[in-house]
Amino acid sequence: MGFDEFLRETDSLFGLQWRPFQRRGIKRKLERRIAQIGLSGFGEYLLKVRQDPAEQNHLATILTITISRFFRDREVFHVLETSLLPAITQDKKEGDLRIWSIGCASGEEPYTLALLWKTSFERNWPQIHFSVLATDIDEKMLRRAEEGRYKKSSLRETPQAILENYFKKEDGFFILNPSVRKSVEFKRHDILREEPFPGMDIIFCRNLAFTYFSKESQIEVLKKIASSLKERGYLVIGRDESLPLVYPTLFVPIFPTQKIYQKFTPNL
Ligand SMILES: C[S@@+](CC[C@H](N)C(=O)[O-])C[C@H]1O[C@@H](n2cnc3c(N)ncnc32)[C@H](O)[C@@H]1O
Repeated sequence: MGFDEFLRETDSLFGLQWRPFQRRGIKRKLERRIAQIGLSGFGEYLLKVRQDPAEQNHLATILTITISRFFRDREVFHVLETSLLPAITQDKKEGDLRIWSIGCASGEEPYTLALLWKTSFERNWPQIHFSVLATDIDEKMLRRAEEGRYKKSSLRETPQAILENYFKKEDGFFILNPSVRKSVEFKRHDILREEPFPGMDIIFCRNLAFTYFSKESQIEVLKKIASSLKERGYLVIGRDESLPLVYPTLFVPIFPTQKIYQKFTPNL
C-alpha cells in the first residue's frame, strides 16, 4: 500500500483534509514512525492503527502541526482586551467567566488569555472567577504546557512589560509565573470524537479544525462549539481560516478581520 492509499483510508478515521504542502512533511514523519516501530510499510501500519487506539492517538499527533506562540496574531488579543472582555465583564459583574482553548498545543494560547486577564481585568473584577479550559489531543503537549517553560522564539509577539513581569529566565528558557498558570486547566480531549464542554463565554479554535479537517468534520466541530457556548458567546478562529457554511446560521462575524464571531441567536 502506498502513501496516498494510506491517507485515503485514514481520512475517514480522522476527518482530515490534505493539502500538497502538508503531505510531504507528513509522509516523512510517517515513514520515520513505521521504521521506529519495526513495520514494513504503510499497509502494515494501517492494520496497527486500526487495532490499536494508542497508535491512533500517536498518528493524530503526526498528522497535525503543533506550533504555537504567545500573543499569536496580536490584534486578536487587542480586540479581546478592548471590546469583548469589557463587554462580558460589564454584563456579568460577578460569577464565572469561562474560556475554552481547543487545540491548545503547549499552552501558549490559554496562558496568553490568562495573562490578559491578570494584567488588565483581575484587579477591577475581583467578583469574577476567570478560568481557561485548555484541551489538546496530544498528551505530550499538555505535559509541556503544565511545565510553563518556553523558548524565546515562542514569546516574540509578547509585550516587553509582560515578559519582564511574568516570566523568569532560567537556563535560557522563560518560566511563566505560577500565579498566571493557576487559572488554566489542561485536559486531554479530542474535539472530533468527544463531547464538548458546556457553559463557555468564549471559545478559541485556531489553526486546527478550520485548517486541517474536512468540510464535514468542520461542520461537526462548529455545531459542538455552538452547543458549548452560552447565548451570544464568542468564537475566535485563526487569521487565515474561515467557517464552513451551515444552514441555519450558527455564527455571525463581529470583527471580521480578526476572525471573531458571535453565536447567532434568532430574534435578538
Ligand atoms: C497548530 S496547533 C494550534 C495551537 C493554537 N491554537 C494556536 O493557534 O497557536 C494545533 C493543535 O491541535 C491539536 N489537535 C490536533 N487534532 C486535535 C483534535 N482532534 N482535538 C484536539 N486537539 C487536536 C494538535 O495536537 C496541536 O497541538
